[in-house]
Amino acid sequence: MDGELHHKTQIETSSVQPPEGLSISLKNATRDDSLYGTRPIYLDVQATTPTDPRVLDKMLQFYTGLYGNPHSSTHAYGWETDKEVEIARGHIADVINADAKEIIFTSGATESNNMAVKGVPRFYSKAKKHIITTQTEHKCVLDSARHMQDEGFDVTYLPVNQEGLISLDDLKNAIRKDTVLVSIMAVNNEIGVIQPLKEIGKICRENKVFFHTDAAQAFGKIPIDVNDMNIDLLSISSHKIYGPKGIGACYVRRRPRVRMIPIITGGGQERGLRSGTLAPPLVAGFGEAARLIKEEMDYDQAWIHKLSNKLKDGLLSIPETQYNGCLSDPAKQYAGCVNVSFAYVEGESLLMALKDIALSSGSACTSASLEPSFGLGRFTTEAEVDYVINAIQLRVEFLRKMSPLWEMVQDGIDLNTIEWSGH
Ligand SMILES: Cc1ncc(COP(=O)(O)O)c(C=O)c1O
Repeated sequence: MDGELHHKTQIETSSVQPPEGLSISLKNATRDDSLYGTRPIYLDVQATTPTDPRVLDKMLQFYTGLYGNPHSSTHAYGWETDKEVEIARGHIADVINADAKEIIFTSGATESNNMAVKGVPRFYSKAKKHIITTQTEHKCVLDSARHMQDEGFDVTYLPVNQEGLISLDDLKNAIRKDTVLVSIMAVNNEIGVIQPLKEIGKICRENKVFFHTDAAQAFGKIPIDVNDMNIDLLSISSHKIYGPKGIGACYVRRRPRVRMIPIITGGGQERGLRSGTLAPPLVAGFGEAARLIKEEMDYDQAWIHKLSNKLKDGLLSIPETQYNGCLSDPAKQYAGCVNVSFAYVEGESLLMALKDIALSSGSACTSASLEPSFGLGRFTTEAEVDYVINAIQLRVEFLRKMSPLWEMVQDGIDLNTIEWSGH
């Protein structure tokens, strides 16, 4: 399968024809890491994904021939880049069944989240003063919400259960007459749990409250339909889908219209919601990444599921190991994110012992300690997963041998019966 995947990338890339009149093209692009010496195995796709070579292929034209400003409406240089920008916008909209006009380009999901969580409540601030979000959002949503508290808004931070899911009853009970916005992430970046978007959207629509979702980890990875799910605003990041860094988008519904006060003002680009000259190489790369992730979603997800099951089985075969995420319903868990706690091993010590594997340490919702979060993606290989399973099994065993607690448990001592001294 590894070979197949690699082969696939090559075939696809070599089928890309250079644009007429241009001689430059990465016709035989493959991911080449050979220039950088020995590096750890990359299992941190939640942080960022490697750029797909086919995406770079698309971007290169804009650094050479197609350099016009897409907002220059008086000549062909502007028209040709503008045409490509609109094609890219269409590819991004297609992934979530939106209209291309509803896609607003930004610098990334952080900006999109700021735009939604600050911009919408500010617009409606005369009549409405309440925002609902969750305790497990990404920092940029939590921080935006705190800013709104400083501006006089009330914010309810919904708790999550053991599996990381919010309760729909909690949400219903939290909605007030003056609630303007509910912001609940789609896929959690630390444990991969998927919130019930459709049910949340239904509750929000019934109560005439706008629904924003941070879909940085979800876009192109789980099926999302903004109309079926009644989503009014949705944040996207290009570098989480094998696209370039420095670009993202905010889906902003047109009917019923969502209004907001823009964070960045100026020339009135992007429906007046985000001024500034667009970066066509980034826009086109993002569009291509979106086109590919939609087209290859089934293939990517089948591959990621296969690797995820193998990794999960391998790690959970280690005694006293706990999976953090949603086990009760596989439909509510994104397979590409595997977060596991190993009892009697400090998360931090384990991460220190795993210098040959690039991982994120997220705090799982069930504990305050840092747990390794394994991120699997399009370019992860089976050999890498095999290596990681073996390395973790050996290092957990090694660290436990040094743990007095583990020794006591092996000797049959029930740790709950011990009276620990207070210092
Ligand atoms: C859930 C979530 N939201 C927002 C972001 C921020 O995205 P960006 O890097 O595009 O600003 C990330 C990435 O770290 C994320 O995982």
